[in-house]
Amino acid sequence: MSTDKVSVHGGWASRWVFVLAATGSAVGLGSIWKFPYMVGMYGGGAFVLVFLACIALIGLPVMLAETLIGRRARQSPANALKVLALEAGHSARWSWWAFAGMITALLILSFYSVVGGWSLDYIIDMGHGDFQGVTSDQVGAYFGKVVADPWRLTFWHTLFMVLSAVVIARGVVAGLERSLRIMMPLLFVMLLVLLGYSMTTGHFMQGVHFMFDFNSERLLEGLLPAMGHAFFSLSVGVGSIMIYGAYMPKGASLSGTVVGVALLDTFVSLVAGMALFPIVFAAGLSPSEGPGLMFVSLPFAFGNVAFGQLMGVVFFVLVAIAAWSSAISLLEPMVAYLVERTKVRRAWVTFWLAFSCWFVGLGTVFSFNIWQQAKFFVSEGGVFHLYRWGAISGLDFFGVIDFFTSRIMLPLGGLCFVVFAGWVMGREAVRDELSIRSPVMFALAFFLMRYIAPIGILVVFAAQLWK
Ligand code: PFF
Repeated sequence: MSTDKVSVHGGWASRWVFVLAATGSAVGLGSIWKFPYMVGMYGGGAFVLVFLACIALIGLPVMLAETLIGRRARQSPANALKVLALEAGHSARWSWWAFAGMITALLILSFYSVVGGWSLDYIIDMGHGDFQGVTSDQVGAYFGKVVADPWRLTFWHTLFMVLSAVVIARGVVAGLERSLRIMMPLLFVMLLVLLGYSMTTGHFMQGVHFMFDFNSERLLEGLLPAMGHAFFSLSVGVGSIMIYGAYMPKGASLSGTVVGVALLDTFVSLVAGMALFPIVFAAGLSPSEGPGLMFVSLPFAFGNVAFGQLMGVVFFVLVAIAAWSSAISLLEPMVAYLVERTKVRRAWVTFWLAFSCWFVGLGTVFSFNIWQQAKFFVSEGGVFHLYRWGAISGLDFFGVIDFFTSRIMLPLGGLCFVVFAGWVMGREAVRDELSIRSPVMFALAFFLMRYIAPIGILVVFAAQLWK
């Protein structure tokens, strides 16, 4: 296959736009909202260690595999796997995996948009000065009040989804660049400012110890959640990075770029954790608070420093933008696929898909209020005995979707993509796309894709089942 084709959806103007878009996809609520609360729930340092190992040995090879598949085929994930498999003399059924990945992306978007909506809500609340001088009890109660109101959550969820869909409808390539060029660097600066603040709380070292000291007994407990989160954080396993790879210019160095994006994403997660935990301890909050952790700890900090009101508004604007640029990458693979397959107008496809995700997202909205008592997979006497899968018993709707996507579908999708690159496409095609000059580095990257990442994923699944 020639590698100089251009996708029908357009292409990034340069390698740097790809870096911006891919960073925009990777850096989002996963790093700032989800990573800290998972660290808190799964034992601090033990989780961080396993997460970093999963990023390096599994997530990164999968990310390389996905991007190179996308760039070679220049089509949506399902079509990309189909044409490349046929070209290599394999079954076109490979595309089914990618199709499952694209559905997974839509399921993730359904709850992602709800949480993105929380950050929109907090921009206004911050601006009103609702958190000026608050105590830690008051911020907790405030969050409780926000999520208890289904109308309020639905309003912000709807707005967030509309904002994401508008960019997709106009075409990702046109919409993203301008907004991300300024906002992403600003987000990094804001996180560093927060980190600076947390150093003044007197609990900085406590936070650092919490994040980096580990209890070896807890390593296994967080294994599958950490691997799932490595995929989630890097936006791999569902075709998001693949579709962005499809828009990447031909001459750009793929491997260097992808490694850079992965490093940046991991760096943001670590900085977010180090900024958050000292505040959590200073405020006397519990690190295992769950999904509300960021929404109670940061308003507390902003509520109690000089210029906190302004900084808080800026911060939540940036979080919302980071979330929005990730949400776009969740919607794009399926939109691109349907545009390729049906020739229906992009705007229509976007509208219907966004509407469907919005509808499923109502389940997540209700999980925090009117469906709070509805629990799935209750193990005592229940039909399902999935206790081996960790904290499975008694999940609400949001918990089920999160569990199914992050812990099962993302790793399976990742497995499919690395096996495809390592075993189906063949060494020469991979070498051609990766454009790594050093033979040793190429051999290492290919070895990771062919053996380490697939075996690693299977080992984590096995360890979960037999622990
Ligand atoms: N990586 C994004 C984040 O960390 O917030 C979320 C995400 C985007 C997950 C795209 C998966 C994906 F395909």
